[in-house]
Amino acid sequence: MRIGVLASGSGTNLAAILAAQLPVAVVVVDRECRATVVAASYGVPAVVVKRGSFGPSFDREAYTDRVVDALEPYSVDVVAMAGYGTILSKQIHDAYPDRILNTHPALLPSFPGWHAVEEALAAGVTLTGVTVHVATAEVDAGPILAQEAVPVLPGDTVETLHERIKVVERRLYPETIRRFVEDLAGRSQ
Ligand code: GRF
Repeated sequence: MRIGVLASGSGTNLAAILAAQLPVAVVVVDRECRATVVAASYGVPAVVVKRGSFGPSFDREAYTDRVVDALEPYSVDVVAMAGYGTILSKQIHDAYPDRILNTHPALLPSFPGWHAVEEALAAGVTLTGVTVHVATAEVDAGPILAQEAVPVLPGDTVETLHERIKVVERRLYPETIRRFVEDLAGRSQ
């Protein structure tokens, strides 16, 4: 089983996946970011598929085709999104049906979207958490594979809360990926 990881940020989830010795064949990033440094430190190739634009002129379909093309030579079985900053269109789900995983820093279906931690804090919830799910073309939807609650503490800022959530993600996401990949390998025997 071979895994492709999509990342955009500090790459701490990627680092946790690599430290767990999951079989990552390639990392794809949409911008220059620390995730490429993390990949290099584990000797895993990182491919930059840079977005040309962020506004209404952004061609999501064409961009998604480029991501699918970047993954193709690595023959991955599973794609794990780890803080990927670009919403991809249908073609990637056609290329890897029910084989794209995502980690989200909230208890879905609450607080989907890019500002989940801010929104949970603003809503005044006392519990939020982590959701690992199979990604579908609809953002932050799809079958839930694992969830774990994280308390919101008095005085929390977006940063302190997100970091507490990420501590859980860095354990739960690799664990869940492993279980998913092992199930898949078992089914294809
Ligand atoms: C994670 O909290 C992930 O759930 C969210 O972005 C964050 C990525 O963090 N979508 P990192 O780049 O892995 O440190």
